[in-house]
Amino acid sequence: MDSIGSLGLQQGEGAPGCPQEGLPCPSNSSEMVQECLRQFTVTGAQLRQIQTSLLGSMEQALRGRAGPAPAVRMLPTYVGSTPHGTEQGDFVVLELGATGASLRVLCVTLTGIEGHKVEPRSREFVIPQEVMLGPGQQLFDFAARCLSEFLAVLPVGNQGLQLGFSFSFPCHQTGLDKSTLISWTKGFKCSDVEGQDVVQLLRDAIQRQGVHGIDVVAVVNDTVGTMMGCEPGVGPCEVGLVVDTGTNACYMEEARHVAVLDEDRGRVCISIEWGSFSDEGALGPVQTVFDRTLDHESLNPGAQRFEKMIGGLYLGELVRLVLAHLAQRGVLFGGHTSPVLQSQGSILLEHVAEMEDPSAGAARVHAVLQDLGLNPKPSDAEWVQRVCVAVCTRAAQLCAAALAAVLSRLQHSREQQALQIAVATGGQVFERHPRFLSVLRETVMLLAPDCDVSFIPSVDGGGRGVAMVTAVAARLAAHRRLLEETLAPFRLTREQLAAVQAQMREAMAKGLQGEASSLRMLPTYVRATPDGSERGDFLALDLGGTNFRVLLVRVTAGGVQISSQIYSIPECVAQGSGQQLFDHIVDCIVDFQQKQGLSGQSLPLGFTFSFPCRQMGLDQGILLNWTKGFKASDCEGQDVVCLLREAIRRRQAVELNVVAIVNDTVGTMMSCGYEDPRCEVGLIVGTGTNVCYMEELRNVASVDGDSGQMCINTEWGAFGDDGSLSMLSTYFDASVDQASINPGKQRFEKMISGMYLGEIVRHILLHLTSLGVLFRGQQTQRLQTRDIFKTKFLSEIESDSLALRQVRAILEDLGLPLTSDDALMVLEVCQAVSQRAAQLCGAGVAAVVEKIRENRGLEELTISVGVDGTLYKLHPHFSSLVAATVRELAPRCVVTFLQSEDGSGKGAALVTAVACRLAQRTRV
Ligand code: BG6
Ligand code: GLC
Ligand code: GLC
Repeated sequence: MDSIGSLGLQQGEGAPGCPQEGLPCPSNSSEMVQECLRQFTVTGAQLRQIQTSLLGSMEQALRGRAGPAPAVRMLPTYVGSTPHGTEQGDFVVLELGATGASLRVLCVTLTGIEGHKVEPRSREFVIPQEVMLGPGQQLFDFAARCLSEFLAVLPVGNQGLQLGFSFSFPCHQTGLDKSTLISWTKGFKCSDVEGQDVVQLLRDAIQRQGVHGIDVVAVVNDTVGTMMGCEPGVGPCEVGLVVDTGTNACYMEEARHVAVLDEDRGRVCISIEWGSFSDEGALGPVQTVFDRTLDHESLNPGAQRFEKMIGGLYLGELVRLVLAHLAQRGVLFGGHTSPVLQSQGSILLEHVAEMEDPSAGAARVHAVLQDLGLNPKPSDAEWVQRVCVAVCTRAAQLCAAALAAVLSRLQHSREQQALQIAVATGGQVFERHPRFLSVLRETVMLLAPDCDVSFIPSVDGGGRGVAMVTAVAARLAAHRRLLEETLAPFRLTREQLAAVQAQMREAMAKGLQGEASSLRMLPTYVRATPDGSERGDFLALDLGGTNFRVLLVRVTAGGVQISSQIYSIPECVAQGSGQQLFDHIVDCIVDFQQKQGLSGQSLPLGFTFSFPCRQMGLDQGILLNWTKGFKASDCEGQDVVCLLREAIRRRQAVELNVVAIVNDTVGTMMSCGYEDPRCEVGLIVGTGTNVCYMEELRNVASVDGDSGQMCINTEWGAFGDDGSLSMLSTYFDASVDQASINPGKQRFEKMISGMYLGEIVRHILLHLTSLGVLFRGQQTQRLQTRDIFKTKFLSEIESDSLALRQVRAILEDLGLPLTSDDALMVLEVCQAVSQRAAQLCGAGVAAVVEKIRENRGLEELTISVGVDGTLYKLHPHFSSLVAATVRELAPRCVVTFLQSEDGSGKGAALVTAVACRLAQRTRV
């Protein structure tokens, strides 16, 4: 075999001109050239095979399963819709990597009016070779310098200008302004950039350069810029095709087909990165030995094999390799090679374009060759032109096969047999080779006969599209800032929480002493947690939480068995007359007794009544005021046990023996205390919130006696009603308070408990909508409706296992039409509100356990807290946030939280049992 040194081929690799082994070498020049050209012909079958194979790779990548080699990457961009055309403002675009060694800076004005265009200002800078191959920092510094020079003469001034970064290399994008370079392609190979966020690198460089007032808000691939900048014609343009230095396309895919996104609605723009397509079965048969040589000598051997047959960076080089070969074989240039033919990169795309142009006569080709320092013979021009045509035709055909694969994909995913679609085209190859588009078009018609494709040249080389994306990104960034500002008051520092803890401690002490305090610190007359010797059958009532329940509690040596039934308390009853409410309660008891076969029996009854009561004994409780959603008349200031007894009397037929009235916190503490003697605190975070704990009797001014303990119902829900929480209270808290049935009251409860968190969220959502941040600024009737946003939605929305699309579904069920961006923001609002609630609750618990520790003069206290309440139990993060806050603020207390399983009804029965036991003892 001949030596073919200048092509850099190894012996035995197959020489150009004799491509297929076994074929006889052509004997004369014409045949030799023909043979060379033949290698660049691609058959229809081969193109179809490429189309099919590329489609297969695309679909595989969409499904998230990488093939044996990364065939095509299918990278989701953060562009979810094609432009509306309403975007406006001045934007700076910095383009790197689209057109070879040049960097372009543009200032684009979007008018927001369709068809009204302002010519952009732009400037191109040549990137020196050593910068393209040097350290990354040098490249980005170069870019920042170019930007600075451009801005220096910009009449619009650069204060507050938003910049879109067109960076045309394969990147993993994780946000509109976050993009990690996977690998360099084309002629770039700067160190320390792969694996880095290129937006950050640019921002750092801009800062080093001392350019102020520029905000990099979006990063965009050139294909996306091309697609987005396209003037909407008959329909939107949903494919962007670039054949510049390299080649690639993007298109709008159905989001549900993109496995990595976990999103089931809408479309997302996918950058295919088809340049890396490399299926040997499909590409092998069309690759020539020149392609292999080119690849071998490139900066990235083995990579971007498809791109190297199409991209403008390579077309000149392929032509050079063919010409050098033919010169060596004595066919061209009188058999003389020249420094030009021997040096890589000496023939450029523009030379090929000029020579290939059908209108260029032999004289023109001759002149170009001479300019290149070659010494053409008169007969050379025609051959050279044919070589150029062959190389470019093949490129256009291969590109058509790839585009046909995208069209098949669109037909399939949209289930449309006859697809009508607009493709935006951009890049030097289109601009300089008029034939490229016509070959592409013809081939596409052949390969995708059912598709009606219109090709639309990009505007401003994609710069306008980048400006469009930048406009959208800028809007989103502004929205994010507004969101952050809105939520900032909900994000409490450690110092703020420690201050809450300290204030709570002070309020507890004052309340115990009978001094003015927002904490009432009510004695409960429960002096001990159960000791396990309690026995008997008891009735219990449980009023004040989500459910009203009547229970039968059997306390035996073998444990506690409970049967219960839930009854509803209609709002009209909860807020009607007291008599009506208590009659209703007795009706429910009678019904329960009948169902349980207990009619006629007079069992001792414990009444969990979850409202603030001043107690004088176990079976006496004067309702101080209603809280939560209750407002029945003529009850405040009355003994609730009497009200119940009167209702029983009115009902005549029943006999009931009301023994004890118990707050739900106390019931919960007792119920958990039955299992764990260390349980000396009861915490409720449900409809309302409250805490009780075992206090030293000597500290309780209103009860006689200095020894022993008594359970104190703190009624901490009212903490801050004296204005002490005003520093923390936000505009939204004030709105929720004002709209409630007890304005000015239960201020701590209104920041924490289930009855209010949904309302706080709703008020924040209303505010964000009025700022235009959410729901496209459109207020809906639904969102204006009180209590429409239930606290259980917070628990659902914040659940880790929930994808954003489910969040969206929950909100859509509420009649709120929203985008993914909206869904994410609503999630963040929920998180901020529930986190503050949990932390405030934790600060309160820290105050309580620290007080117990100090009461007992202990270095370290080990204690359990019995907890109940729907919010605490259902919310995915509430309990751990409470615990974390307590650890932080009460480091000397080891606190275990026990969730009450049976509600506080069981606790009420236990209190009753203790009372009966003690009563029996006194009788004896
Ligand atoms: C339950 C009690 O254990 O917890 C109720 O039995 C109490 O009386 C409730 O009010 C608190 O939770 P929620 O979420 O129902 O208010
Ligand atoms: C290369 C890049 C790609 C770009 C294309 C066209 O293939 O990897 O991101 O779109 O060139 O410039
Ligand atoms: C309210 C009540 C209180 C109760 C709490 C939890 O704050 O005033 O008594 O414990 O809600 O249900």
